[in-house]
Amino acid sequence: MKKYKVGVIGATGMVGQRFVTLIAEHPWFELKEVAASKRSAGKRYEDAVSARWFMQKPIPDCAKDLIVKSAEDDIAEIAANVDFVFSAVDMKKEEIRALEEAYAKAECPVVSNNSAHRWTEDVPMVVPEINPEHIEVISSQRKRLGTKRGFIAVKSNCSLQSYVPALHPLKDEFGLTKALVCTYQAISGAGKVFDTFPEIIDNVIPYIGGEEEKSEQEPLKLWGKLENGKIVTAASPSITAQCFRVAASDGHMAAVFMSFEKKPTIEEIKERWASFSGVPQKLGLPSAPKQFIHYFEEDNRPQTKLDRNIENGMAVSVGRLRPDSQYDYKFVCLSHNTLRGAAGGAVLLAELLCAKGYMD
Ligand SMILES: NC(=O)c1ccc[n+]([C@@H]2O[C@H](COP(=O)([O-])OP(=O)(O)OC[C@H]3O[C@@H](n4cnc5c(N)ncnc54)[C@H](OP(=O)(O)O)[C@@H]3O)[C@@H](O)[C@H]2O)c1
Repeated sequence: MKKYKVGVIGATGMVGQRFVTLIAEHPWFELKEVAASKRSAGKRYEDAVSARWFMQKPIPDCAKDLIVKSAEDDIAEIAANVDFVFSAVDMKKEEIRALEEAYAKAECPVVSNNSAHRWTEDVPMVVPEINPEHIEVISSQRKRLGTKRGFIAVKSNCSLQSYVPALHPLKDEFGLTKALVCTYQAISGAGKVFDTFPEIIDNVIPYIGGEEEKSEQEPLKLWGKLENGKIVTAASPSITAQCFRVAASDGHMAAVFMSFEKKPTIEEIKERWASFSGVPQKLGLPSAPKQFIHYFEEDNRPQTKLDRNIENGMAVSVGRLRPDSQYDYKFVCLSHNTLRGAAGGAVLLAELLCAKGYMD
């Protein structure tokens, strides 16, 4: 099979390193370009990241000798040398919007981890098991941008990657009306490790800027419909969220309460979770988990440290489903924030786009 040539924009950062590590082992993708800020440009990748390599695996051989390019200055050169890029940069939103559009206009598709384009109406925001059909909006986006190949596709925020998959197979059949969510989010979500975030040790911080709004609103775009060349967001369910930073390295947990128009039984909910399989599973995409939702019967599971890596960090763990006195039911769920919630989710989206011909 043809290998797709891939670049990573923001390759020196926490998510960028995860992209580099995943691409190095990927059966369809070949790492050709790494780019970051002007501070890193011109350095060998290994030299640019050696003092801040956060992954457990060593720096992949295919990346070590690549010369880091300037993400902003070398667009034409990078676009000419790859089939598409992943993007994970820490810049102002307007700058990211402009940068990603510049790559798309240079006929280089962008699969982005950043939030800058999540609310652009003709940019699909996709969790491949939930709304794969939203990628069809790309034809309208290409018309707006005046491109033949170039486009932007994004993944949604890491906080919701556990509870939206759990709510999705129940939503339409049982009429999900509302959900209340409290998240317990790992420090890698802030681009940190314990050495660089000592104030989190023995602590919980009850605020993550912008996270509660994303947790409440982004599910409605995921559950939206493609109409007249744009994604129209769903009007319901109503979601309210509180997001906390906790002293875990990786893994975002959520405590969820939910109510329905037609209240299902506990057995019906567990059955829908067990049988939930989406387009990535049907197509056999390389990063797709075999079983998307893993339900634990033990009272003390899922646990962040024990369960975040299930199915290479791409599956969702759920447990403690039980009746609630104010909502119909409550449960706990967990997903790996830099794998399913960031780079892994974007790699799965890129695989879907390749399988559907958007990267050819
Ligand atoms: N960490 C997570 O779990 C997570 C999850 C979901 C989404 N995100 C989002 O993903 C993005 C990256 O997060 P991160 O945690 O990987 O951040 P990070 O570790 O701070 O890395 C930031 C990257 O952006 C590059 N960069 C900074 N300024 C730049 C500029 N002016 N031009 C080009 N590149 C520039 C940096 O290059 P230098 O090394 O040269 O400075 C580095 O490669 C952010 O938007 C974040 O909100 C993160």
